[in-house]
Amino acid sequence: MPEFEQYLHNLFAQRASSKVKDAMMYSLLNQGKRIRPKLLFAVLRAYGLKEEKGYCAAAAIEMIHTYSLIHDDLPAMDDDTLRRGRATCHVAFDEATAILAGDGLLTMAFEMSASASDDAKTALAIVTECAKAAGFEGMILGQARDLAAEGNTLQHEMQLREIHAYKTGKLLSLPLVCGALLANRHGDIEQWRQIGALIGLFFQIQDDVLDVTATSEQLGKNAGSDASNHKATYVTLLGIEEAMLRANALYDEAQSLLQRMNIHKEPIEELLAALLQRKH
Ligand code: IPE
Ligand code: IPE
Ligand code: MG
Ligand code: MG
Ligand code: MG
Repeated sequence: MPEFEQYLHNLFAQRASSKVKDAMMYSLLNQGKRIRPKLLFAVLRAYGLKEEKGYCAAAAIEMIHTYSLIHDDLPAMDDDTLRRGRATCHVAFDEATAILAGDGLLTMAFEMSASASDDAKTALAIVTECAKAAGFEGMILGQARDLAAEGNTLQHEMQLREIHAYKTGKLLSLPLVCGALLANRHGDIEQWRQIGALIGLFFQIQDDVLDVTATSEQLGKNAGSDASNHKATYVTLLGIEEAMLRANALYDEAQSLLQRMNIHKEPIEELLAALLQRKH
């Protein structure tokens, strides 16, 4: 997606120079997989619309996601040193700058989402969806519960399912919902939310598995991070094989919900198939 990468880059042109801006650009403009933007673009194409229509909303979501990663890597959270193939933000800069760079990306995301559509009502709906997905009843709640569960052996899969639903599911549903909003297909939003929740859980189970099966080089982030933080994960709860079976079942469930929708399915199916195969 070179055009979208260029678009992201250009958002920082003619903005005041600062160390915080450098840190924001350092973390955002690198080797992220851009899954959330790709999901949004796939939904737009599913409705016969151009990807460009979603650039602004996709940038907002990728900024929120990148902020969540910068803070997730901080010493007070997962204390990691490698992200997207290079030193984490607080290592490359310093801790205070990394905190502020996260704050800067989060607030810039709201600047972006406010102009995500020429239609003011749609833009407002996107702002609201972003705030809810990122906020204390969304991703932040999941991150808080993830930290609280460190060192605990969770007894029930449902507890972990809920942590993952918030910390990862909310930001993975968001681009699907924003795609439907931009396409003016309000009737489809709840179905996209359900599909997003399934993809989010599936994606985080894969992340838990890759943390133990892949190398830091392959991942571009610290492998073994979960074990060193005594995290509760699908691997600690069920083991690798059972966890992968869960992930595959969730993928199938997402596929079957998708089949019921009256859309052009190929773009989203292709993306999901690629996600199923992911190695990083
Ligand atoms: C990492 O997300 C955090 C999780 C929710 C598992 P990604 O795997 O999408 O990370 P990037 O954006 O490609 O770096
Ligand atoms: C964090 O999950 C999800 C976020 C909200 C950032 P992880 O802590 O497992 O993500 P990675 O493995 O560091 O990317
Ligand atoms: Mg974490
Ligand atoms: Mg982490
Ligand atoms: Mg992880």
